[in-house]
Amino acid sequence: MSLSILVLIARFSTGVEATNRTKLVLRLIHRDSILPLPYSEAENDLRAPLVPHGRGLLFLVNVSIGEPPIPQLLAMDTGSPLTWLHSYLCTGCNPPTNRAPIDDPKRSSTCTSLSCDFKYQCQQYLGDTDCSQESFRCTYNMVYMDGSYTKGIIASEKFTFDTSDGGISAIPDLVFGCGIESHGVVVRLSGILGLSNLNGHSLVTRVGKKFSYCIGNISDPYYMYNQLVLGEGAVLDGDSTGLDIRNDQYVVSIQGISVGEKKLEFNKQEYHYNVLIDSGSTFTYLQRSAFEALKEEVVNILADSMQLEIIEGFEETPCYRGDMVRDIEDFPSVTLHFDGDTKLRLNVEGMFHRIRSDIFCMAVVVSEDETNTIGVLAQQYCNIGFDLNEMKVRFSKIDCELLED
Ligand SMILES: *[C@@H]1O[C@H](CO)[C@@H](O)[C@H](O)[C@H]1NC(C)=O
Ligand SMILES: *[C@@H]1O[C@H](CO)[C@@H](O)[C@H](O)[C@H]1NC(C)=O
Ligand SMILES: *[C@@H]1O[C@H](CO)[C@@H](O)[C@H](O)[C@H]1NC(C)=O
Repeated sequence: MSLSILVLIARFSTGVEATNRTKLVLRLIHRDSILPLPYSEAENDLRAPLVPHGRGLLFLVNVSIGEPPIPQLLAMDTGSPLTWLHSYLCTGCNPPTNRAPIDDPKRSSTCTSLSCDFKYQCQQYLGDTDCSQESFRCTYNMVYMDGSYTKGIIASEKFTFDTSDGGISAIPDLVFGCGIESHGVVVRLSGILGLSNLNGHSLVTRVGKKFSYCIGNISDPYYMYNQLVLGEGAVLDGDSTGLDIRNDQYVVSIQGISVGEKKLEFNKQEYHYNVLIDSGSTFTYLQRSAFEALKEEVVNILADSMQLEIIEGFEETPCYRGDMVRDIEDFPSVTLHFDGDTKLRLNVEGMFHRIRSDIFCMAVVVSEDETNTIGVLAQQYCNIGFDLNEMKVRFSKIDCELLED
């Protein structure tokens, strides 16, 4: 009840800030729909298929930072504990190496860098903050799996969201990172909207420890119904499975994998609370025991009809010459079974990925470390709801368009 009232207020009072609102419905903007592209076509490494640990970071959220608010597109990442932006976008936070001129019109009046007085917030991050010296600031240092990193200071700032119902919603004093130095693919993003942090100052905690996102057809950059809901409106449908946070990442347990009716044999212990749900990873990564079992099944099923191709650099992944849509349309669905009788079904578009017009490969690849990851290809046509009070996650296969109100 109270929720629909909130929506109405937001709709009829466009331009009036509803601070402290706990329902945010945000459109997820496909990276490839933005012109000019945040990534240059020439530097192809993010788009190239099968980059080991490639950060997919396909979906952007339009967030305005500071006062006056300046819109930025931040990549939504369930695998990042910290929201951060490059320091040229957080002028006003006054990082020591990036003093904006006092009369810079873009300079935000609402940013404050956290001093060591905020020891609690500082200690949540990984930086080498030395609070024994009065003048030191709270710092962070985030290193991503592909070796990209960002370092900077922890600050607090007002974040304003344009909600998809036409309202705006401001969250004051959100703790975030102002990135002074960064390296790797993250340089080409404005920043990251990190969703895997449950400390009292993070975005997901401030909106009420619930969020959900729905992703439709990733191959269609103009699909309009991809969305992120933060707070009370989060869509928590479907059977739930236990969720935990390990190393700042959301993890679940895979109990079984089936291809059609056939259950695969693998070492289940390796998957106990060791499967990341990552909106920043394109592919699904499995440790060798399940990867080999799945690969063998795929190779067997396609042995008669398709020609196996060896692609240099990715010899472990089965690749085929042909047209993914036409030739393997009726490939049996692959199901990940989680604790609690919860399932995630991967159709052809979740299991395979076209790497050239005439070659496609399995989109489940072998993990190079001791973790497993469910990437965004596997999350297509699915709503994923995180309930962080109960520490449960729910998957439901759905047409995201149906969630529009
Ligand atoms: C982001 O939001 C701003 C402010 O509402 C708007 O002007 C801009 O067009 C939006 N950008 C995109 C890509 O939607
Ligand atoms: C909303 O504001 C009240 C007081 O203004 C504060 O106590 C409460 O923590 C805020 N809630 C959120 C979710 O920020
Ligand atoms: C997804 O989008 C691509 C590109 O627009 C299209 O070719 C494909 O048919 C779509 N897939 C489905 C299942 O709608």
